[in-house]
Amino acid sequence: MTETSETTGTTAPVVAMLNQKGGVGKTTLTVQLGGLLASRGWDVLAVDLEPEGALTSILGFDDVYGDLDQPVTLHDLLLDPQSHADHAGDLVLEGPEFDLLPAHEKMVDNTASALEGEPKARERLGMALDTLRDDYDAILVDNEPSINVLTDNALRNSDGVVIPTYAEGLSIQGLDRLQKQIASIEEYYGPVNVLALVINRIEHNKQAEAMVQSLRDGFGEHLPVVEIRKRVALQRSLVQEGVSVVAADEETDMLPHLEDLAGVVERELLPESRPVVGDE
Ligand SMILES: Nc1ncnc2c1ncn2[C@@H]1O[C@H](COP(=O)(O)OP(=O)(O)O)[C@@H](O)[C@H]1O
Ligand SMILES: [Mg+2]
Repeated sequence: MTETSETTGTTAPVVAMLNQKGGVGKTTLTVQLGGLLASRGWDVLAVDLEPEGALTSILGFDDVYGDLDQPVTLHDLLLDPQSHADHAGDLVLEGPEFDLLPAHEKMVDNTASALEGEPKARERLGMALDTLRDDYDAILVDNEPSINVLTDNALRNSDGVVIPTYAEGLSIQGLDRLQKQIASIEEYYGPVNVLALVINRIEHNKQAEAMVQSLRDGFGEHLPVVEIRKRVALQRSLVQEGVSVVAADEETDMLPHLEDLAGVVERELLPESRPVVGDE
């Protein structure tokens, strides 16, 4: 039995953090955005769809990730959502800011290959999250740096996609491949809603500034472009405390930029009636 979200009474939109390039900030931004949305009163679930489980680890759940005695994991949920989706809530772990549907060690070199060729292989994430969507205001999905059936699932079953990228040449070439993946999903399943491009970890040099400008020139007309500079605070809150800069009380000049990103998600996907955040 499920209830609709206590704060808004609607089902949660799914936001996928996607880029097939590693190290661009998908996991970092999942935590920072999740924490920010939570601080604004939204009930957030993060889903670790990355087999290596970096998000699960950062949030402090290495033990769950490696627990081979677990009868049902995200792997099983994706392989057989019909049998397990009603109990997906049992897998959810509670964090200080938001909840987590953790990755599991079994997913490494396994989930994507097992799914490939199965019926509705690209609809499994939606089926898996079906009952959970009623319990939250927003669901953020962190992804692995690949183009495969799992990331196709994220594209196909999300209501919006956030694309973190890095201000350097190779990363821009990578965006090209991601565009192709998006186009091939759109061909079969209909439009993908890209919410924002986040240029992340921008360094303080002329080359980086030039890249930022060329990304803005290339995408800024069609998409909100959020710029996030390289700041140790954004890394430290995760590494030291497993939380966002908000919960870690880290001062950073990037907070307004993270707020811009949260604002895009709110504006595009969340109900107008904001939950009331309790007085502190
Ligand atoms: N804006 C930033 N400033 C400083 N370090 C960052 C920033 N964004 C990400 N990082 C660091 O860069 C590395 C890669 O980020 P991560 O979120 O793991 O990328 P991905 O999930 O795309 O592979 C991590 O060590 C992370 O702490
Ligand atoms: Mg990651």
